[in-house]
Amino acid sequence: MSTLDHAKLDPVADPDDIPVNPATEPSLDDLIQRRFGRRDLLRGALGALAAGPLAGLAAGTAAAATAEPLGPASSSPDDPTRFDFPEIPRGVDATHHVAPGYSAQVLIRWGDPLLPGAPPFDPQRPNAAAQRRQFGYNNDFIGYIPLPLGSSNSEHGLLCVNHEYTNTGLMFPGLADAEDPAAALTGAMVDTELAAHGGSIVEIHKAGGQWHLVPGSRFNRRIEALTTPIRLSGPAAGHPRLRTRADPTGTRVIGTLNNCAGGITPWGTYLMAEENFHLYFAGSLDGHPEQRNYARCGMPAARYAWARHHRRFDLNAEPNEANRFGWVVEVDPFDPQAMPVKRTALGRFKHEGAECIVNGDGRLVIYSGDDQRFEFLYKFVTAGTVTPLPNPASAPAEASYVGRIDAGGQVHFRKQDMRRRIAAARAANRDLLDQGTLFVARLGDDGGLQWLPLVHGHGPLTAANGFDSQADVLIETRRAATLLGATPMDRPEDVEPNPLTGKVYVSLTNNKNRGKDGYPDTDPANPRTGNLWGQVLEITPQDGDHAADTATWDLLVRAGDPTDPAVAAHWNPATSADGWFACPDNCAVDPSGRLWVATDQGGGWPVTSGGADGIYALETEGPGRGTARCFFRVPVGAEMCGPRFTPDGRTLFVAVQHPGADGTEAYPGFERKSTFEDPATRWPDFADGIPPRPSVLAITRNDGGVIGG
Ligand code: FEO
Ligand code: CA
Ligand code: CA
Ligand code: CA
Repeated sequence: MSTLDHAKLDPVADPDDIPVNPATEPSLDDLIQRRFGRRDLLRGALGALAAGPLAGLAAGTAAAATAEPLGPASSSPDDPTRFDFPEIPRGVDATHHVAPGYSAQVLIRWGDPLLPGAPPFDPQRPNAAAQRRQFGYNNDFIGYIPLPLGSSNSEHGLLCVNHEYTNTGLMFPGLADAEDPAAALTGAMVDTELAAHGGSIVEIHKAGGQWHLVPGSRFNRRIEALTTPIRLSGPAAGHPRLRTRADPTGTRVIGTLNNCAGGITPWGTYLMAEENFHLYFAGSLDGHPEQRNYARCGMPAARYAWARHHRRFDLNAEPNEANRFGWVVEVDPFDPQAMPVKRTALGRFKHEGAECIVNGDGRLVIYSGDDQRFEFLYKFVTAGTVTPLPNPASAPAEASYVGRIDAGGQVHFRKQDMRRRIAAARAANRDLLDQGTLFVARLGDDGGLQWLPLVHGHGPLTAANGFDSQADVLIETRRAATLLGATPMDRPEDVEPNPLTGKVYVSLTNNKNRGKDGYPDTDPANPRTGNLWGQVLEITPQDGDHAADTATWDLLVRAGDPTDPAVAAHWNPATSADGWFACPDNCAVDPSGRLWVATDQGGGWPVTSGGADGIYALETEGPGRGTARCFFRVPVGAEMCGPRFTPDGRTLFVAVQHPGADGTEAYPGFERKSTFEDPATRWPDFADGIPPRPSVLAITRNDGGVIGG
């Protein structure tokens, strides 16, 4: 019997078990706002929905553990949604499944060679030097930047992929029977883990209906936690609380950690959000100068053995290192030599993502959830405006010329080099993210939403509360937001603006502590105690202005099983027994403005849905509003990440994260913990001795059409 202590080795899918927001007592404001009689949150087609109308639908049941092709589970002749694919049945088995009529191609896997000189994948010999040149572990966010930059080319581009964390016990051989797994980890293993974090930039193109890596691409790049230097910029850069012995300037960090979701800017840079950075730091906090700050981030809670081999991860040896993580990192994929930059103006917390939209006035707005129970929802509004990129494919001919009037009044035109124009636009945007205002959301019970500015000197954000500068406000964003009266939410994950409708969708994944044991009570936006299933929040900015101080909110769905009255789920009655989901996480909007939601149930999948995670199309408009349909599901133990469409909507890239890891004790026929030697699945290789490998898939429709119809 294995003695592997997974709690020590693996930051399990849900590292957010311990809420650290101390706001457990309602403020006077809360008491005034909170009332027992809730307004009807689900209007229109959803308004009449109680458990009753769905009672006739059969609950989903776990399918047999086979990799056989699945037929369509259901199809509705009266489907009120804009999605035309046949659903796949709920279930769990060793492999992935996509809707009939579609194909899912494995594009790149953990360990695949990426940079020149990279050796082939060899899981028996952990090797940081090799890993630095290979695709990293636990792919999460996926961005797609068409080539050439500024075009909408959907058959040639750069994939920007985050590598969030490592599953030590599934990555390395020989740990399953170790008495003290942390002690059994070698320095080579630890360094390999650091090198497997971060991100990858991968040039890809489509030919013959298949996507391919471009071998030897000059764009291919690894960003990792072992060696990649990263610059700190913005208001907190250089602050004494960011200085370390290795970096007395407080402006230069090695690496980025726990890169969950992210975003792509309009000028073609890649934003990597640092989420659960606390997992890497060991040490005690007693008498620590950053005790209050670090406790609020959940430290110490080291789940990795890194501090044994790298003293910068020991809080007592290097007290400020943990202040250098929890930021949003901007990477320029078009210059492999360009140093990534941590943009401190966007605040320091457990950023789930950083999806952005250009506001009507030209400013960029970046939305970001702080993924922990009872944490908050944020947006950042730049001070300056975005300089748009010229589109090399569609720019009118005259746009390629610049005019000059000579002394005699004669007009001369000169053709301007497109590359120079693109470079000029990019340069104009280069430091746009260093200046602007960070806001946190307060949701009223009346459906109103206020964005509260996190600005030093305003309200309680003063020296009296320990904020001597804007740098202090940004370093301790969570504490500042609590003082402002932000609304503690049910774990805000991805936040996705829909550029076609102007609405914004927030995945609130779950919160088992809501309303329990002295934790904050329910409110209309977080309406269920012991919420295991999550909800999708919809925000409508005032007059379409994403920079405005106010907005309105509504709940699109309350996730979970609609046939179980105890769950109190809310779906459009057109949602089938296979279509409802639990624990919304990453999401994407397709080029037609339709929402697609990926789920992350962690080890709770046997309870929350009875099936594996997947991708669900979720109608937001018309009579089908609130109807979900299952499009794709992952192999056992995996989480669904990264959905991203090409601009033509004909390819959907998805990231299968930590296959074989979560909840395998409940996997029929396996029913034990998964290890390197004995994994619940060997997806996607299914080869002896090869462990499961996190991988990115490219989904296309067999007839070449648009995903979802
Ligand atoms: Fe990295 Fe909140 O998921
Ligand atoms: Ca996630
Ligand atoms: Ca997203
Ligand atoms: Ca999650």
